[in-house]
Amino acid sequence: MNKNKQSNPGYQKAEQKARDYFQMLFKQVREQTYVPLLINDFNSWKHHHVHHSPFLSFFSSQKKKTAPRDYHPYIQWLNYTGKLEPYLERSIAYLFLRDLGKDLGEPETQNQVRRVASSLKTQLTTEKSGNQEPFNLVGLYRKSQEEGIESTMIWLIHKLKNVTTIIPEEMDGVQAQRKLIKIIAGVLMHVVNEIGDEVTACERRKRLDIAIRIGYCYGLTYPFIDDLLDSNVLTPQEKHRYSDLIRTTLTTRSVPSLGKWTGPNKNLVEKVHKELKEAFEYIKAHQRSEFLDSFFEQSYVFFHSQEVDRKKNVKNTSFTNEDLYLPVILKSASSRLIVRSVISAPEDKGFDDRTFYYGIYNQLADDFADLFDDLEDGAVTPYTYYWLYHDKRPDLINPFELYWSVIAHLIHHVYRSDTMTREVILDRAINGLKRYKAKMGNKKYKKVMDVFTANMQPFNGLIQQMVKKAEDVDFFDKLLRDQMITSLKQERNEREDFFENIKQVREQINSLLPITKTNEIPLLDETVVEAANYSLEGDGKRLRSVMACMMSVKEYGLNQASVEPLIKSIEYLHTASLIFDDLPSQDNSLTRRGRPALHQVYNVAIAELTGIFLTQKATAEQASLNQFDSKTVLELIRYSAQMTSEMCKGQAMDLASKGKTMTHKELNLLCFYKTGMAFEAALVMPAILAQAKADEIAALKKFAWHAGIAFQIQDDLLDVEGEEHLLGKPVGQDAENNRSTFVSILGIEEAKKGMWDHYCSAIEALQHGQRNPAFLKHVMDYIVHRDY
Ligand code: IPE
Ligand code: IPE
Ligand code: MG
Ligand code: MG
Ligand code: MG
Repeated sequence: MNKNKQSNPGYQKAEQKARDYFQMLFKQVREQTYVPLLINDFNSWKHHHVHHSPFLSFFSSQKKKTAPRDYHPYIQWLNYTGKLEPYLERSIAYLFLRDLGKDLGEPETQNQVRRVASSLKTQLTTEKSGNQEPFNLVGLYRKSQEEGIESTMIWLIHKLKNVTTIIPEEMDGVQAQRKLIKIIAGVLMHVVNEIGDEVTACERRKRLDIAIRIGYCYGLTYPFIDDLLDSNVLTPQEKHRYSDLIRTTLTTRSVPSLGKWTGPNKNLVEKVHKELKEAFEYIKAHQRSEFLDSFFEQSYVFFHSQEVDRKKNVKNTSFTNEDLYLPVILKSASSRLIVRSVISAPEDKGFDDRTFYYGIYNQLADDFADLFDDLEDGAVTPYTYYWLYHDKRPDLINPFELYWSVIAHLIHHVYRSDTMTREVILDRAINGLKRYKAKMGNKKYKKVMDVFTANMQPFNGLIQQMVKKAEDVDFFDKLLRDQMITSLKQERNEREDFFENIKQVREQINSLLPITKTNEIPLLDETVVEAANYSLEGDGKRLRSVMACMMSVKEYGLNQASVEPLIKSIEYLHTASLIFDDLPSQDNSLTRRGRPALHQVYNVAIAELTGIFLTQKATAEQASLNQFDSKTVLELIRYSAQMTSEMCKGQAMDLASKGKTMTHKELNLLCFYKTGMAFEAALVMPAILAQAKADEIAALKKFAWHAGIAFQIQDDLLDVEGEEHLLGKPVGQDAENNRSTFVSILGIEEAKKGMWDHYCSAIEALQHGQRNPAFLKHVMDYIVHRDY
């Protein structure tokens, strides 16, 4: 430790500043000078938050309807009771204070807060957002389209997905995702705030693009450095080596190569190293040189102070107050200061000071909330240490007292007794305790309070009264956070269910598909049946038939056995289309589903006959849907035959497209005919059997239009960017055949944008329809992320 301190004058300087700050706070605690200041503050604050009507209180508290807790109803309730505006104002004010390091005492900042809050209010109360998840992918992508930064968004979507696949099971992937999103949002806020109205659209796009990428690159350090080192995933030796690697990076300003990694987590470390290296180099390349020094200085302070804390053993009884508090001041301040140097924001002395003093306020609030988790992990924080040793160590400062003294210092010295600042800081403090009390239950809360407020009477009496009685102290960012955690978790569970379901359904389908030989007429050549089975046995995704099965059974509640003929028919038709597609007269493809194409194994004639055979088999299956009334079945067969004939037109269009340029519209049409039709059929045929209403079918068709095209675009992309061993079919086939595809006509980047646009439109089509089958959203995710 000492060696590092000496070799890093930046750290020493920061530590000295932290020490001075700490001494000042310590003095305030000792002399209790913060108490009269805060009593005064609370006495005026409470007029707006404690509504006292002594006679009516019994009845009113009985009658008063409690606010709903869920996101949308809560926003509606706030709006209805006229509380939405002040709610958003205090929330935005707080973000300006915490994340932008703004001085709320300045009239310009106050105006800005009001402007942002009012535009947010409009956004939240318009029809469209009425039922949408905040931070939903479709909403974000649409927003990126408005800004013209779709490519950046697509990049980010893949990065975030990649991070969750790298993060090991025992580290919380959902939290990591949430943190990353939060940090990116924070960096974006900074940048948007700096941009101003006068820059050109092109410049704005460029800056937003860099902000998002930098936000990601910086945010990555949280899951990949801090959380990884905090967790027990790496062995002690691995941790040691890994943290040396980070330290070397920060001191030499370049990422050393990993070398040969020995230890059980080689795979993980390699992936993390690769991703971090890329991120590091991006930040370095995009930073103005005059900010590099401060970036590396802050980063070192941040990393080192965390390390110091991490290495503390909670059994060590001799840590001094400085040992406990200096790293807290340093890490909380530097993490915020880095953001500013990362985005090369102009030097702002006011910002630096405010941020430096502010950090510990937040950190102590977090450490308080995490007390029991940290105790369990054996982590040393001011709260865990005081909790364990306050009896034996009367010299220890009570962190809760220090927290209030930080608050008094911020309000009265840093922010010069500004009213708005006082308002939001006290709101936040009381809200934090209210949330904590609700989470812990009264008994445990009291136990905690007994320890931390033993020497705080009578001031604590006032605080507890506020915790009980104060209203209107909650914040939008907390609501968002809760909502985000819930929806990210829900999404993850749904996704796992979806894949589990798909797997099961796919196995069931596989067992249904083989066609039995007749075996009755001894001389009959059954090569066609063998050939059909050869194609059916190939490793297909069965996506269309899985969709049809889920739709029939899960959505419409049809009996699975009764729809098996339909499911078989869908896979027969699809397989037939692939057999034809691979013929020398069409795509001339040698492999399919990981094996030689059918005409390679037999010959073209047999392949052609098998294609027709399977098409007819499909109709025969459909005609045997004998659990449904014949009119419905006839309607289904008519529809199915119609779709199949339309698909032929699509294939013909595709062949004719050779070397032609096409409009986007023509391209969409072509794709819908050759591919989208089959997707539509997979959804509409179950709906026909379930006798669904016309408007419901119309919504499914709309969904299928977009889903089918998105699927084909990804197919075209995989033909360029995919890997043959995963795909089970050759790559580069389209270029070889000189075919017009989304990629050949629009280029990779525009093709991707097109795909995501269809992704959004597909999901929006469901949202507007009466029925919104949850699994179809996952089908869309699967379609755009699949690699085979
Ligand atoms: C391939 O479909 C034909 C296209 C429409 C691009 P799939 O990619 O679903 O093929 P399998 O059934 O999994 O082999
Ligand atoms: C095929 O499109 C569409 C149908 C078979 C109906 P592609 O020709 O792109 O399909 P792959 O890439 O060969 O699977
Ligand atoms: Mg083709
Ligand atoms: Mg093909
Ligand atoms: Mg293809």
